Amino acid sequence: MQLAVIGGTGLIGSQVVRILNASGHEAVPQSPSTGLDLLSGQGLAEALSGADVVVNLTNSPTFDEASPAFFQATMDNLLTAAGAAGVGHAVILSIVGADLVPGFVYYQAKVLQEDLLKTGPVPYSIVRATQFFEFMDATIAENADESTVRLPATLIQPMASADVAQAVADVSAGHPLQGTRSVAGPEVFALDELGKITLAARGDHRAVVTDNSAGMFAAASGDALIAKDGAVLAPTTYREWLAR
Ligand SMILES: NC(=O)c1ccc[n+]([C@@H]2O[C@H](COP(=O)([O-])OP(=O)(O)OC[C@H]3O[C@@H](n4cnc5c(N)ncnc54)[C@H](OP(=O)(O)O)[C@@H]3O)[C@@H](O)[C@H]2O)c1
Repeated sequence: MQLAVIGGTGLIGSQVVRILNASGHEAVPQSPSTGLDLLSGQGLAEALSGADVVVNLTNSPTFDEASPAFFQATMDNLLTAAGAAGVGHAVILSIVGADLVPGFVYYQAKVLQEDLLKTGPVPYSIVRATQFFEFMDATIAENADESTVRLPATLIQPMASADVAQAVADVSAGHPLQGTRSVAGPEVFALDELGKITLAARGDHRAVVTDNSAGMFAAASGDALIAKDGAVLAPTTYREWLAR
């Protein structure tokens, strides 16, 4: 199977390309560094020529008010070109609970991306994943100084990016779901507790202060970001991943 992996140089995309090629498919990474700009459409027709599947793993450069316009323009370009090229399956990666956090514009932008795919001309699959373990350092840095890290007690169920990539590769090599597959980590944590575990594992002696207004995850409440019924649980635990 020939797959164009847009965003194929990113954290998830590069792993998806590796997994697909190792299992005998022909997955080609596409991104600005390979001459494809999904925002302008430059290089898109060439990238999709002969592709059976397009996997879109791009990300908005910012998580702010500019993100809806990024996902609108990139999905408009993708769907128009994929429809014209006769691509038989389009896959995107979205976020568990994105529709349940109306106060976070980036998550609204991901819901917009899902809606554009669902109403577009190409058979589709949506993979929804929870937050990546790899995202924890940036989350800690968001509201930290030399002595203190401020984190909300928001519940999250994070997972290893390698497990996300495996789920995306599996769905991409299959038939279009015309629906969504959700994947999540094996354990639920309060984010402030996860911060303490992370700092302890790294020998970082800063104190974690629970602050339910700190950072972008403060916008999520209750079990919004936790896997719902039917989600597939990934194998790798956070402590296993930290120990690697
Ligand atoms: N963070 C989370 O916890 C989480 C959870 C669930 C789902 N997701 C979703 O997972 C997806 C992938 O995330 P990631 O962390 O792997 O992203 P990433 O590491 O930032 O990679 C983004 C990729 O998109 C490419 N790209 C950026 N702008 C582009 C453009 N205009 N045209 C073509 N390619 C472009 C980048 O290319 P260059 O390297 O050349 O810049 C890179 O290959 C995102 O859509 C995100 O919403 C994230």
